[in-house]
Amino acid sequence: MPKITFGDRTITCVEGTTLREALQVEGITPHNGRSRWMNCTGIGSCGTCAVEIHGEVGPLTAMERWRLAFPPHHPSRGLRLACQVKVTSDLVVIKHSGFWGQHVDAPEDD
Ligand code: FES
Repeated sequence: MPKITFGDRTITCVEGTTLREALQVEGITPHNGRSRWMNCTGIGSCGTCAVEIHGEVGPLTAMERWRLAFPPHHPSRGLRLACQVKVTSDLVVIKHSGFWGQHVDAPEDD
């Protein structure tokens, strides 16, 4: 079972589970602030579950390419959408600040 490290938590999940679901089952959210309640529930359209991922994951899905291509996201930031990523190996996941988690270069901002 793949391990996911998110902040000070490390969890495991069944291989192939979406990252967002794996986190939420363990009481962890990939969303910041009000986006915990104001989100697309995982269809890939809102962009609020964006995270930085270290570890092997599949290529960007079509939804990720679409949503991460416009503000406040930018494709150069290298973020992924937790609701679209399938967990197949051990991962370290970082959530940046901002409603969408978009502040990759200024993690102290909100
Ligand atoms: S929850 Fe909306 S894009 Fe992932």
